[in-house]
Amino acid sequence: MNTFNATILSNEAVAAKIFKLVLDAPDLAQSSRPGQFVQVKIADTCAIPKTSFKFKRVFFYAIILGGGVVMNTFNATILSNEAVADKIFKLILDAPDLAQSSRPGQFVQVKIADELTLRRPLGIAGTTDGKVTIFYRAVGRGTDILSKKRIGDTLNVLGALGNGFTPRDGKILLVGGGMGLAPLLCAAQIFKSDVLIGGRNFSEVNFWIEEFRPLVEKIFVTTDDGSTGKKGFVTDLLPDLPNDYAAVYTCGPEIMMRGVADFALNKNLPCEVSFEKRMACGLGACLSCSIDTADGRRKVCKDGPVFDAEKVFGGGSRE
Ligand code: FES
Repeated sequence: MNTFNATILSNEAVAAKIFKLVLDAPDLAQSSRPGQFVQVKIADTCAIPKTSFKFKRVFFYAIILGGGVVMNTFNATILSNEAVADKIFKLILDAPDLAQSSRPGQFVQVKIADELTLRRPLGIAGTTDGKVTIFYRAVGRGTDILSKKRIGDTLNVLGALGNGFTPRDGKILLVGGGMGLAPLLCAAQIFKSDVLIGGRNFSEVNFWIEEFRPLVEKIFVTTDDGSTGKKGFVTDLLPDLPNDYAAVYTCGPEIMMRGVADFALNKNLPCEVSFEKRMACGLGACLSCSIDTADGRRKVCKDGPVFDAEKVFGGGSRE
């Protein structure tokens, strides 16, 4: 049943003893679902097809991303790619379909260069007039290469992925730190909101203040060094803020989100947290992004990145 001969398009080592196998298998690529696997007859001398757990994960991943399928991949032209702070870049893509269909809190997986096996997950920070805005920090090989891309270059984009924040009546308090402010900026486009911005110093928060200014009613700021806003962490300022919010949405360092979630849950405010995790497939197939929740292990890429704070931090340090 459903056996066929597939031509090998590439079969390369991507790490010690780990290989990425790409097959030309259009029917399989179109009909398979994340989590499925195949049985492979490797040689006439092997009576039983091989399907070790690791092998099938890598194998399936290769089919998804290399088989020509696939889920919403497209080439997007770069309209601008400029530094807005030290090592932080603002990337604008011409991507009308993505701009129209994505929701605040979703992300994309971007193929940055042929020599990089894995795509990079990047949060969607804005969708206006057919353009998609993304902020990223150039901290590794992939994002360093991305920072050197020029206007007119194209990027292969997979997405939009993930669930996104819940639309809600009433004003939302957005609380973010570092690059976690990117998905909250997208939320500010859609939801009536105030924002609490946290960062290390003036230059790290200043461009965020300018980005949020036309979108929100009030902006609150904390910095570690006190160079702008209140000196301290976002959690230090939370008790001083108005208490007429319908919900709190937060994204940033996990320790910050835990503090924000504790504050919100103690006030019986609905709270949603958006996780930033390293991701391999972004499609729920490799388990590299799993977190523990009250409902068991969940994948940030597929079940999130946005989760109900009660499900992930509910048993934490609440008073
Ligand atoms: Fe592969 Fe989430 S990144 S399962």
